[in-house]
Amino acid sequence: MSNFQRLFVAAAAACLVVLSAPSRAGVGASGCDDLSGIAETPMVDFQSQIQPIFDSTCAGCHGANGPAGLDLRAGESYDNLVGVISNTNQNRLRVEPGNPDSSALFLAVSCDSPGGPGFRMPGTDLQQRALIRDWIAQGALAEPAGTPEPIAVPVNGRWALTLLTIMLLLTGLNLVRAARP
Ligand code: HEC
Repeated sequence: MSNFQRLFVAAAAACLVVLSAPSRAGVGASGCDDLSGIAETPMVDFQSQIQPIFDSTCAGCHGANGPAGLDLRAGESYDNLVGVISNTNQNRLRVEPGNPDSSALFLAVSCDSPGGPGFRMPGTDLQQRALIRDWIAQGALAEPAGTPEPIAVPVNGRWALTLLTIMLLLTGLNLVRAARP
C-alpha cells in the first residue's frame, strides 16, 4: 500500500468510529443544572403549565420570525418544537419526546452552554426548568394523557365518494339491463 492509500484507509476507519459512536444525551452541552433534587411533577399539561412560561419569558424574543426561526407564541409553539430539528444544532430535535437531555429546548434553559444556541435562555427558575424536563420526559404531549381523543370518523371522504360512484354506476347498469326488452 502506498502512503496515500494508508492515509485513506485510516481516515475511513476514523469516520466509521465517529459514525458508530452512540449519540449521547446532552452531548456538546456544558454547565447544566443538576435538577435531580426536584421531584417529577406528574401529568404536566402543555397548555396550562408550559405555555405560560413561554408567554412570560420567551415570546418577547421568540415571536413571528423569532431568533433561530423559533416561534414560542401560544398556538405556534407546540408545532415549532416537538419533532422539529434544531436550527442551531442539526443533530438535535428541539423537543425529542421522552428525552429531555437530548432536546434543544431543555438544554437551552438549563445549561450555560447549551451546545446549540450560544447562551442560556434567560428568565426561567429551577422549578420551571424541571417542569419542562418532566413535560418532555412524559412524552411532550399536546394534551395530558387520559384526555379522551375525539372519535375518529372511520371512512375518509374520498373513499366514501368512490364507493358511492361505484354503487350509482352498478344501479345504473342494472336499470339499463332491466329496461331491455
Ligand atoms: C433576549 C432574547 C431571547 C429570549 C428572552 C429567549 N431567547 Fe431563545 N434564543 C434567542 C437567540 C438570539 C437564539 C439564537 C442563538 C444562537 O443562534 O446562538 C435563541 C435560540 C433558542 C433556541 C434554539 C432553537 C433552535 O432551533 O436551535 C431555543 C430552544 C430557545 N431559544 C428557547 C428559548 C426559551 C424556551 C426561552 C424562554 C425561557 C427563550 N428562548 C428566551 C433569544 C432569546
